Amino acid sequence: MCGITGYIGKNNNAIKIVMHGLEALEYRGYDSSGIAYTNDNKVNITKEKGKINNLKKSVDFNIKSNLAIGHTRWATHGEPNKVNSHPHSVNKFTIVHNGIIENYIELKEELLNNNYVFKSSTDTEIACAYIDFIYKKEKDILKTLNQVTKIFRGSYALGIICNDDLDNLYAVRKTSPLIIAQGKDENYIASDVPAILKCTNKYILLDDFQIAKINSDNIEIYNQKLELVTKETLEFDGTYESSIKNGFEHFMLKEIHEEPSVFRNTVNTYLNKNFKNIPNFSKYNNLHIVACGSAYHTGLVGKYLIEKYANIPVYVEVASEYRYKHNFYDKQTLVIFVSQSGETADTLACLKKVKEDGIDTLGIVNVVGSSVARESKYVMYTKAGCEIAVATTKAYLAQLTVFSIITMYLINDKSLSNEISSIPTLIDNLINKDYKSIAKEIYKDKNIFFIGRGIDYFLSMEGSLKLKEISYINSVAYQAGELKHGTISLIEKNTPVIAISTDNTLTEKTISNIKEVKARGAKIIFVTNQNIIDNFYDIKIDIPKVSELLQPILTIVPLQLIAYEVAKLNKCDIDKPRNLAKSVTVE
Ligand code: M6R
Repeated sequence: MCGITGYIGKNNNAIKIVMHGLEALEYRGYDSSGIAYTNDNKVNITKEKGKINNLKKSVDFNIKSNLAIGHTRWATHGEPNKVNSHPHSVNKFTIVHNGIIENYIELKEELLNNNYVFKSSTDTEIACAYIDFIYKKEKDILKTLNQVTKIFRGSYALGIICNDDLDNLYAVRKTSPLIIAQGKDENYIASDVPAILKCTNKYILLDDFQIAKINSDNIEIYNQKLELVTKETLEFDGTYESSIKNGFEHFMLKEIHEEPSVFRNTVNTYLNKNFKNIPNFSKYNNLHIVACGSAYHTGLVGKYLIEKYANIPVYVEVASEYRYKHNFYDKQTLVIFVSQSGETADTLACLKKVKEDGIDTLGIVNVVGSSVARESKYVMYTKAGCEIAVATTKAYLAQLTVFSIITMYLINDKSLSNEISSIPTLIDNLINKDYKSIAKEIYKDKNIFFIGRGIDYFLSMEGSLKLKEISYINSVAYQAGELKHGTISLIEKNTPVIAISTDNTLTEKTISNIKEVKARGAKIIFVTNQNIIDNFYDIKIDIPKVSELLQPILTIVPLQLIAYEVAKLNKCDIDKPRNLAKSVTVE
């Protein structure tokens, strides 16, 4: 996710402050960064691909400057490289931009007809040129910015420097957040509070279409009539850590709390609007799903739903296996690659191989512009936003959502809209239950089992992975009916067994299997959407019953939170579990 920071002040240390602001925004995720600063009445720009450390090596921190804007870019339009990274400069203007200018193609046409030329593939360079284009007619910066707010469609937060007025820094926004922060003899702009916290905790929230004109002593905010408006100054009461975690103790918890809106955003993208750059699924007579870890687990759920409801055979395999085996696909096969990061080496290698064989590919990806997104013929983005905790939660839920949507699309089912709109509240209610008391019952155990049948088995696999990766407790998921063929020998007095049952056609069978382990002393945590009162469980977690197409989206929430609470009681490094990386770019 992109980040903006900017500074204007009398202290001449604009470069250091903006670079620090960029570092404070690193947590948002980015793939390149850049800075523009004034020196001797000229604007200089330095940009680098990759980590901010690369940029730090290229910037001369000794240069005195009183005006600078900086940016961390998370690629959307055009690959992550130096040319596409911000700031962008066209004639008299230099800008940094968060968001997407949706009508940039139309604007580009107009600019090309007016002899503008472009170096990058970004919508931002077009926006910058368009500001310059309007300014040539208006010859007034405020009027120009006000005019472009009526022309640009989409979302934007812009930090703007104009060569004709290097005594002021300008900013404007629509939808993408932007704050104006107040210091002594210096003022700042930023996309988020963390960027300015080392310098000040006082800030103003810029509203949509408002324009800020800032110098070392003054902050002027203009409305759309170009009248000055008075804004309330807010004070952020907290530390840098708390500002980026939004008050949550861990990123994982914060990300679980974001799940209702992640579901809403993902659904809104694909159900209420038009499907863009996605395949005509009905054209294929079989699907393959290839992924790793949790993304593979969503693939299993996807297979279950698509086979059961759309009657299309689906083959699912982990990427590290798929890559080296003989796969049966042809022109009627669509191969789907699921990945949060879009950079997982095994997944990417499979994608390249399948592409070489001339087979259609679809990437279900969270990180926009990532390798899997770029290499896939079709892309469906999950709308989870930047996920920081190594253990995926909200991105996993967004992947489940995409598979539910694909299934609904395949069977042309539009009947679930009421239920869909209730899901965010149901997730929220589940999040707010007490899992700590459950975790207290199991956190000291050395082995914890998850069991389920059908779709519940696939969710058990994810529940088990979540638990082991962050709490370091050995945990295995089994098909409930398979236990008696071996695993049951591991059950002793008080061995925790988390049993999931949401499919009422299989409940009786699952209960029989639960009773088998209960008879051998297991401590049963029963996760169900059914109204069963019995003595075969020790703890029951009730989840609301919804259509099977949406049920996994609810079932997974308690499993994620049990893992979280168990890891917390064990004082584990929840967001950065040992030996694991967020993006696995090696084979
Ligand atoms: O970025 P990807 O979705 O391709 O990553 C795949 C796995 O490495 C990932 O899901 C991993 O299993 C997570 N740590 C699970 O929480």
